Amino acid sequence: MKHLIDPLDFSVEETQELLDLADRIAADREHFSQACRGRILATLFYEPSTRTRLSFESAMLRLGGSVLGFASADNSSVAKGESVADTIRAVSCYADICAMRHPKEGAPLVASHYSGIPVINAGDGGHQHPTQTLTDLMTIRRKRGSLGGITIGLCGDLKFGRTVHSLMKSLVRFPEIRFVLISPEELRVPDYIRQDVLQKHHAPYREVETLEQVMPELDILYMTRIQKERFFNEEDYVRLKDSCILTAEKLKAAKADLSVLHPLPRVNEITADVDEDPRAAYFEQAQNGVYVRMALILKLLEVEVC
Ligand code: NCD
Repeated sequence: MKHLIDPLDFSVEETQELLDLADRIAADREHFSQACRGRILATLFYEPSTRTRLSFESAMLRLGGSVLGFASADNSSVAKGESVADTIRAVSCYADICAMRHPKEGAPLVASHYSGIPVINAGDGGHQHPTQTLTDLMTIRRKRGSLGGITIGLCGDLKFGRTVHSLMKSLVRFPEIRFVLISPEELRVPDYIRQDVLQKHHAPYREVETLEQVMPELDILYMTRIQKERFFNEEDYVRLKDSCILTAEKLKAAKADLSVLHPLPRVNEITADVDEDPRAAYFEQAQNGVYVRMALILKLLEVEVC
């Protein structure tokens, strides 16, 4: 049985195949509309979410399956002190596949050890978010035609942003990717990402503090929210919260074929005037999130659609 806990659980080849399937689904949704009839997805969300949970539920419903689950730990047995191991053992009796989001790093991995059904990591603390990565890769590939040969700027909270960590981990495997890391000094990527991901793969990267310094050279700009809930004190958050903001004015210096991505939710790091710019791709990215999760559910349930 296969799970998706870490972006590296799928090889480059498997990732490309999954994105091919997501493209097929995007082109003809109707064709897949009964593929998971009679199957059940459980969404176990111990931490707030809108897009990820709803896009998982939408994906299963669009495949003709059903969904059950909880959207917060407060209204599940977790509030009574139940362990993740026990919860997943029980959920394995009720559903065929599950997506889990948890504030603790590694919780979905632990769940996968006790589970009788495939477990999908829908975000674990500041660690990984592999299905957002698949969404990001699908969007980049559709915009650029391939996943190689790009200069990508990652901007904002690179320290706590799990979407950034997962995306970098996956992208270093593709040819000729140049990373530009844009953040205040305190929110730079953790050392393990610098050493085990960038340096290990000899990926060219630069660390800068402002968007203006690098805007003209980017093919992809990946904006992120400052992760307020992962700060240890309010003071640091208040000091850093407005440090990287993309405006229509700053975009004037960018390439005509730049694509701006954001995993969402946005707070104030992209001003509303950017939404009108054809280079803003973040709502399209949210749509791709449904297609890629449909493809993932089919793959993990080993459902073949000719
Ligand atoms: C992200 C997450 O939960 O890490 N959101 C998402 O899944 N689309 C990004 C964020 O919360 O800032």
